Amino acid sequence: MTRIAVVTGGTGGIGTAICSALCQQGRRVVATFLAGEEASAIAWQQQMKTQSFAVDVYPVDITSFTSCQQLIERITADIGAVDILINNAGITRDGTLKKMPVENWLAVINTDLNGVFNMTRQVFDGMLTRGWGRVVNISSVNGQKGQFGQTNYSAAKAGVHGFTMAAAQEGARKGVTVNTISPGYIGTEMTLAMAEEVRQQIIAQIPVGHMGKPEDIARTVAFLCDEAAGFITGADFSINGGLHMG
Ligand code: CAA
Repeated sequence: MTRIAVVTGGTGGIGTAICSALCQQGRRVVATFLAGEEASAIAWQQQMKTQSFAVDVYPVDITSFTSCQQLIERITADIGAVDILINNAGITRDGTLKKMPVENWLAVINTDLNGVFNMTRQVFDGMLTRGWGRVVNISSVNGQKGQFGQTNYSAAKAGVHGFTMAAAQEGARKGVTVNTISPGYIGTEMTLAMAEEVRQQIIAQIPVGHMGKPEDIARTVAFLCDEAAGFITGADFSINGGLHMG
């Protein structure tokens, strides 16, 4: 039986590595992309095909409950029921609290926290009914420790793990696991958006001496989605090069 996996933000930096890892694990993988970015999503799909990864791509706005509902209805009709959900899509709008516009607060909460509810709510009941499911929420080291300039992002990402722990309890007796991965600084477009000077200051604080790679995260996602990983639930996996030790 081929399990169907949906990866939000699947065409992004960490998302691409997650899609590749799940394909290698034998899953049927669907990557979502931000509605309106169709051309680059198709180009990404072609690129994945050259590496023998057949990934379906679907648009969604994860800040909209209705958009998520329509997405899952389409995937269910076109391919089948969703067994694995990776809530990976996220944004940053960094800035100190004293200057943060309410729009930047709401954009991050709506995407990084409400997006996790909007997506998981569509698939969770089906997973419980079928007696098997895997949900992996991508949070952040900055949700665990807080970060100067990220009150919005730290709040949303801390909230994600609260969601994980509660949903894990609801899924536990029905074969559905829910876990969090908290990446540290990974070399993607998101970390490149920081000023070079700030980036260098952060790298200097990472005990291993460099940023992580998307594959460092993807490997653990695949591990948690394994058939044999059913005893691991409600956990938060820190993958941060030693930046924060809980
Ligand atoms: N700790 C304490 N004080 C700090 C500081 C820090 N880390 N960084 C800056 N400051 C101080 C400055 O010295 C300055 O002090 P004075 O006012 O006394 O001179 C003051 O804060 C500057 O405040 P501003 O509001 O003017 O800040 P800014 O506009 O210069 O920069 C910022 C704010 C854009 C948020 C910048 O600090 C920044 O980029 N920080 C990094 C945020 C970060 O880590 N983002 C991660 C993105 S990647 C990601 O999120 C992925 C993941 O999951 C890890």
